[in-house]
Amino acid sequence: MSLEHEINKRRTFAIISHPDAGKTTLTEKLLYFGEVIRSTGTVKGKKSGKFAASDWMEIEKKRGISVTSSVMSFPYHDFHVNILDTPGHEDFSEDTYRTLTAVDSVVMIIDSTKGVEPQTIKLFKVCRLRGIPIFTFINKLDREGREPLELLSEIEDVLGIESYPLNWPIGMGKRFLGIYDRYNETVVRFKGNEEEEVIPLKDIDQDEISTHPVYLDTKGELELLDEAGNEFSTERVRKGELTPVFFGSALSNFGVQTFFDTFLQFAVPPQPRKTDQGLIAPESEAFSGYIFKIQANMNPAHRDRIAFLRVCSGKFERGMSVHLSRTGKVIKLNQTQTFMAKDRETVDEAYPGDIIGVYDPNIYQIGDTLIEGKENYQYDELPQFPPEQFRKVQVKNVMKAKSFKKGIEQLVQEGAIQLFRQDLTDTIILGAVGQLQFEVFEYRMKAEYNVELEFISLGERIPRWIKNEKFEKRFFDSRSMLVRDRFDAYAVLFENEFTYRYFKENQKEIELVDLLEEN
Ligand code: G4P
Repeated sequence: MSLEHEINKRRTFAIISHPDAGKTTLTEKLLYFGEVIRSTGTVKGKKSGKFAASDWMEIEKKRGISVTSSVMSFPYHDFHVNILDTPGHEDFSEDTYRTLTAVDSVVMIIDSTKGVEPQTIKLFKVCRLRGIPIFTFINKLDREGREPLELLSEIEDVLGIESYPLNWPIGMGKRFLGIYDRYNETVVRFKGNEEEEVIPLKDIDQDEISTHPVYLDTKGELELLDEAGNEFSTERVRKGELTPVFFGSALSNFGVQTFFDTFLQFAVPPQPRKTDQGLIAPESEAFSGYIFKIQANMNPAHRDRIAFLRVCSGKFERGMSVHLSRTGKVIKLNQTQTFMAKDRETVDEAYPGDIIGVYDPNIYQIGDTLIEGKENYQYDELPQFPPEQFRKVQVKNVMKAKSFKKGIEQLVQEGAIQLFRQDLTDTIILGAVGQLQFEVFEYRMKAEYNVELEFISLGERIPRWIKNEKFEKRFFDSRSMLVRDRFDAYAVLFENEFTYRYFKENQKEIELVDLLEEN
């Protein structure tokens, strides 16, 4: 098979949603279509004590949530599908954000009874910044939800993206009859028990459904959409400006396959990626990729570190020599794996869009580029995301100060948490995107470095970086705390929006920037 053929087959995406919208349920159906699992309802079960195929760390088991992002890979029809899992829990971390830099498209699930929820907004923003295609699946149609038209305008107003429904629900909850598939020109009747019946639109007038009052209402809504809705444009979908919308019920497995098949057609294969030397096309001969995540201790028996690498160009072959762009160091990639959640298999070859796990003898950093051949470049730096929660941290037992230092250094380098130091006192302050990141950090410091920690919470803070090279230090206090980040850049941790605004108005000569927007 040619490299180009392999690239065009690849569909690498993540599913984003607010907790409980149905991500696990939908993922499970997709794994079922891909014949990765033999039946659904087996991997998942927060209450029954079984865990999703994508959950594996011990802490995840304890809390019944997915902490780390895993990768699920399988062939489906003419495609090779890579799903990157992201934790949906509100305590999610920077991992979630970084994973979104490694995908080519995103599926956003919305609970039809709730609409756009806070976590969805946060994740959506990150995807939007990258301009990647976003597909919407409005779930739980078997329940009494919000009006579909109202949901569409909420998506457009709150998220600021245009929408185009490729199918439309015929009723919902107890009156749920099925979907009107605008794209495939069929009506798919909901029969329950994971059964459905497909009626081509040309035959619909002969079917009893065509006179059903709920169907007539639907037709009215569709006319409205035809008149006043957006135009469909593949190009705008690909630019992330228009989101195709699908309705269905993941739990009843209704509308899921149609959604998946259509999604795979419109979702983009791997695209050229930005480096400091310009764009690199996936078809370039030389293999290259970048590390978007480092995971320590995935296998407690081996205590290993695995770097997750997204292949961006060329063909990966096990045993090949590459160099680390940051240092020039030559590395032979022998120990590499693909992922099917818990089961890791040795990978012999991989193509752009694939994610491989590379054994890390402590040499990689998040964002590192690996390249075959003589050329040298660096994939665009992964954005650092501003942390929202801060804690002062110290070691419980001073005898462990050395391990404490080593543990912090390594975990910070791995990107598990962000490090700051209070100006003058040098007190260590950790910043995280979500609460859970501290718990994982604490757990790992104990498990991997045998260090117990004491935390003093600084609560939620608004971090802003100082652009000025020189500034006066006398304006800072505990409400607007002056700190240095791990690269020694000065930042201020504001107690709240009010102190931030007050400071800005009164200290106009100090120029403050927000990292996320700047990147
Ligand atoms: P998440 O990964 O996004 O957090 O959501 P998950 O799939 O775990 O789904 C959250 C809850 O919503 C689950 O119920 C699940 O069964 C339900 N659900 C998912 N899709 C649908 C749907 O299409 N229709 C309906 N009615 N419910 C749906 P739970 O009771 O919280 O969990 P469980 O104990 O049943 O697994």
